[in-house]
Amino acid sequence: MANLDKYLTIEDLMKAAKRRVPKMFFDYADSGSWSESTYRDNTTDFEKIKLRQRVAVNLENRNLATTMMGQPVSMPVAIAPVGSTGMQSADGEIKAARAAEKFGIPFTLSTMAICSIEDVAENTTKPFWFQLYVMRDKPFIERLIDRAKAAKCPVLVLTMDLQILGQRHKDIRNGLKAPPPITPKFLFEIATKPAWALGMLGTKRRTFRNIAGHVTEAVDLASLSQWTATQFDLTLNWKDIAWIKKRFGGPVIVKGILDAEDARLAVENGADGIIVSNHGGRQLDSAPSTIRVLPEIVDAVGNRTEVLMDSGIRSGQDVLKALALGAKGTFVGRAMAFGLGAGGEAGVTRALQIINKEMDVTMALMGERDVKNIGLHNIYSNDLQKRQGY
Ligand code: GLV
Repeated sequence: MANLDKYLTIEDLMKAAKRRVPKMFFDYADSGSWSESTYRDNTTDFEKIKLRQRVAVNLENRNLATTMMGQPVSMPVAIAPVGSTGMQSADGEIKAARAAEKFGIPFTLSTMAICSIEDVAENTTKPFWFQLYVMRDKPFIERLIDRAKAAKCPVLVLTMDLQILGQRHKDIRNGLKAPPPITPKFLFEIATKPAWALGMLGTKRRTFRNIAGHVTEAVDLASLSQWTATQFDLTLNWKDIAWIKKRFGGPVIVKGILDAEDARLAVENGADGIIVSNHGGRQLDSAPSTIRVLPEIVDAVGNRTEVLMDSGIRSGQDVLKALALGAKGTFVGRAMAFGLGAGGEAGVTRALQIINKEMDVTMALMGERDVKNIGLHNIYSNDLQKRQGY
């Protein structure tokens, strides 16, 4: 394994992943819908927020540990559910889950993962979180929830912003499929990505294993877009939270909240937490960035539920900005996917180390010793007034 210490930023890992992962799968991670304006805003809006520097504060014994959904975490960063993670690197979900458990943070497995709930449970020692997409086949969804329970997943993440798939031009142009069709073009490409290809040849996990063999209907699983178009339940609504919660019997957090009114509705309908998310800019293009809407959502429900956020977090500074604006914790998807592509499990660990170090140093330079004390007072105030005028 290459020395990963040379990668100093998530962008470094992204560039390495681009060299090592077939274009179809790298592009799947590095894309947003339509013009990708929301995808871009998710990161550039973080840059507009300025932090307040304080000096002459005792900086001994700094602490990044806190809790997310009552679970102790070594830093307020969980791994987001990312579809097809096992196509960034063979057995990618297992590798990322192992990196997360060693780091002391939650890993969230996607319904649309390559490795199944059982694959990840058999190859890890600590419970991971499970993300649920609701499909038309209700008995299948009930069994999926039961499988997450059997694997002792402590938290269920119910995604509500993807009943139809946002149009992603890169995926359409690349003919995205898992497993990929073996065309001359693809064979030519993997000749330059031998480590990826060797890994894939060495695993049996090459399709959506939460689903394959578990649905009664014979379906072509290879294309995510076709699968969502035909299988996802278009009637998913707030009332569904109740039966999902009852079936799961543990905390259910609702992912995909980008509006204060929806945040209220999620809480009123029993959500135990919410994830402020625009699905990494992959669904409604022209929706606002999550860091922009976070404060109004925290104002609406922050005293009634745990507000978490994702979309656009590429550094420890971004995590601190989200906390300062009221999030209790954050999720990283692409940082994990790029780490995985760059260096497998060690690459995910490297991504987490990068974020952890950025958080620690930034927190110190802001004159804070404990991540639990981060708040609005850490934001340079002129920017607070300007927030409305992005
Ligand atoms: C699936 O969750 C995707 O965004 O591709």
